[in-house]
Amino acid sequence: MTPKAARRTVRIAMNGVTGRMGYRQHLVRSLLALREEGGLDLGDGTVLWPEPVLVGRREPALRAIAERHGLAHWSTDLDAVLADDTVEIYFDAQVTSARQESLAKAIAAGKHVYTEKPTSTGLSGALELARLARDAGIKHGVVQDKLFLPGLLKLKRLVDGGFFGRILSVRGEFGYWVFEGDWQSAQRPSWNYRAEDGGGIVVDMFPHWEYVLHELFGRVTSVQALATTHVPQRWDEGGKPYDATADDAAYGIFQLEGGAVAQINSSWAVRVHRDELVEFQVDGTEGSAVAGLRTCRAQHRAATPKPVWNPDLPATESFREQWQEVPDNTAFDNGFKAQWELFLRHVALDTPYRWDLLAGARGVQLAELGLRSSAEGRRIEVPEIAL
Ligand SMILES: NC(=O)c1ccc[n+]([C@@H]2O[C@H](COP(=O)([O-])OP(=O)(O)OC[C@H]3O[C@@H](n4cnc5c(N)ncnc54)[C@H](O)[C@@H]3O)[C@@H](O)[C@H]2O)c1
Repeated sequence: MTPKAARRTVRIAMNGVTGRMGYRQHLVRSLLALREEGGLDLGDGTVLWPEPVLVGRREPALRAIAERHGLAHWSTDLDAVLADDTVEIYFDAQVTSARQESLAKAIAAGKHVYTEKPTSTGLSGALELARLARDAGIKHGVVQDKLFLPGLLKLKRLVDGGFFGRILSVRGEFGYWVFEGDWQSAQRPSWNYRAEDGGGIVVDMFPHWEYVLHELFGRVTSVQALATTHVPQRWDEGGKPYDATADDAAYGIFQLEGGAVAQINSSWAVRVHRDELVEFQVDGTEGSAVAGLRTCRAQHRAATPKPVWNPDLPATESFREQWQEVPDNTAFDNGFKAQWELFLRHVALDTPYRWDLLAGARGVQLAELGLRSSAEGRRIEVPEIAL
């Protein structure tokens, strides 16, 4: 960064910053981290300086965050913030059920919008937002953070380098035990377990699986899922028991353009016997790889062992040790921050950006069709969407 670079401030309304994602990943680890680095160097003699305007329902909570981080602006009045012409971007990390209405308002106010997923609780709402954004001519982006994780970036490098040959299958395992909330507090918010509040693991995770599969291996062309609620009663933040009306586990099979088959288990009712909270195994004719959030290990065709099935003998080799670590070869930043930087460049410099509200709608579509597949007990085609 040149010392003479001119600073351009970009004011960003951030709604939902008292929440898990809004606070930790988007405010602290992304925008405040960018400020700690001196801003975002646009490479044209300008440095972009993000100025958050915290928005939410509870004034004391907003004030506490603002004071903790030396921020000057917060408000409980979204309409007033959207009416302020100096605010250029609206960001949404609220509970899912509150998102569509606020995004629509922000678009109508002419703001560029950046948002957590899912963009809406249903496909029609998600498409409506994409249409509104297109018609308003604003810039828009949807969080697709998993694409920017070191493990998946290394996996993508293997795909792009032709390591796998023909990709046959992808097997994903996601999940961990989320405590019920009685004898140990739950580590996720209670609305996640109530369908009427926009909860459920399909709505939460299928949007992620859509863009991961699509960007790395091919568009999802069909879905077959079984969603279930393994833990029917939980205890909320106030210690009160409630009925878990949303699915907490989903077992999905996805056919992909290009012929590969993906199978992904998602569960908040499973105990971890893995190296990471999510892992994908990819098998191809020329090689295989297992990627997590941070690591990626590969096994080439030429180094593939030849196990022989014999249950009478103990395993004679350590299969895990037969894989090779894929090197970083670069420094990886926080995935949320990396995507924020690309979105801010898109706003400031008009650089291309494909993770938009239409891409977000594909994720909502896959969740909707996944739930329908489960309810109807059948495989469902996933048509390509367009505006
Ligand atoms: N990209 C990811 O990896 C990822 C991970 C988790 C969650 N998310 C998404 O982020 C969003 C927020 O999830 P979270 O886990 O941070 O939730 P959270 O419950 O911790 O935070 C929710 C935020 O919304 C606000 N809010 C607004 N209206 C509300 C209402 N009517 N009831 C309750 N809270 C309300 C809360 O004050 C809070 O700031 C969700 O849409 C979720 O799908 C994304």
